[in-house]
Amino acid sequence: MTVHTHAIRVLTDADALAELRALRARQPVDFSAFYSSQLNGIVTDPALMVIPFDDHIVHRGHGIFDTAAIVSRKIYDLDAHLDRFLGSAERSKLQLPGSRAGMRDIIIQTTAASGRRDGSIRYWLSSGPGSLELTPARGAEPGFFVMIFGGLSYPERWYTEGLRVMTTTYPIKAPIYAITKATNYLPNVLMQMEAKEKGFDNGVFIDENGNVGEGSNMNVAFVTKAGALVHPKFDHILSGCTSLRLLELARAHQSRAGVTAVEVRDISVSEARDSREMLLLGSSIKVAPIAQWDDQTIGDGKPGPVSRALLQLLEEDMRSGDRLITVAY
Ligand SMILES: Cc1ncc(COP(=O)(O)O)c(C=O)c1O
Repeated sequence: MTVHTHAIRVLTDADALAELRALRARQPVDFSAFYSSQLNGIVTDPALMVIPFDDHIVHRGHGIFDTAAIVSRKIYDLDAHLDRFLGSAERSKLQLPGSRAGMRDIIIQTTAASGRRDGSIRYWLSSGPGSLELTPARGAEPGFFVMIFGGLSYPERWYTEGLRVMTTTYPIKAPIYAITKATNYLPNVLMQMEAKEKGFDNGVFIDENGNVGEGSNMNVAFVTKAGALVHPKFDHILSGCTSLRLLELARAHQSRAGVTAVEVRDISVSEARDSREMLLLGSSIKVAPIAQWDDQTIGDGKPGPVSRALLQLLEEDMRSGDRLITVAY
């Protein structure tokens, strides 16, 4: 039992705010702006980026989220991310706090208020505060939150040398949970921690039929010996917006991508291990080559031409494609 050597203070409003500020001073964060439907506005002081503890998103994980990128003052592919967000909301039985157009507008306005020209936008829908039960409280107001932040960054080595991944020992999520981007990321967190503890960069989920699933916050794809780009089916993994867009781009620019075909199908572990290239795909990592999977080298153990070509196609689309929203800063 912990023995307190001093009496715990009962805080005034001002004390509580000072402690929230002290927490941020001890551990600074790269968060530029936060919209909260509960605050009915945008805050830029990270100490104020808070939500009530009794919101079910906090203590029961009854909430969903999604993430889009800000690239050179423009938001990339937001509508695809919003489509997925609405699908996740429906499957999670979450009410929307407003219309899709209204949420889209809040995301764009929060981005403008942040002043951030490059970074990430993560937004959440919660079932709201009002009880510590399992079902949401009667009359609970759904919450909508938008955070503009620096985004996840990865070592340059991942692109120049390729990553090392391991088959996770944690079981893959059941399909209904895997296709829903809910805030229950415990398996994803544990698989990434496990990989890092064992000296790898990330993990890969395998499904119960022995087919490849996905990574912790990324999809996985392969280039077969015959030169086809193959991607696991989306019925039991997250429909990555990056994967879906890259599959379109690769089909439209097959020779530039350097592939003979583009297929979405089950991929057994043995076929996958025999591939020429293995790729990680996602909004933050974009396209990164995998050089090693468990104790096995993929292809010649070096980043391959398809991973480079797909990264170029994606970066062009992010800079000058037709899926960009201009932000009025
Ligand atoms: C579990 C999981 N799979 C795949 C992805 C890749 O999705 P996206 O390309 O939309 O970032 C993510 C990222 O959000 C994820 O969390």
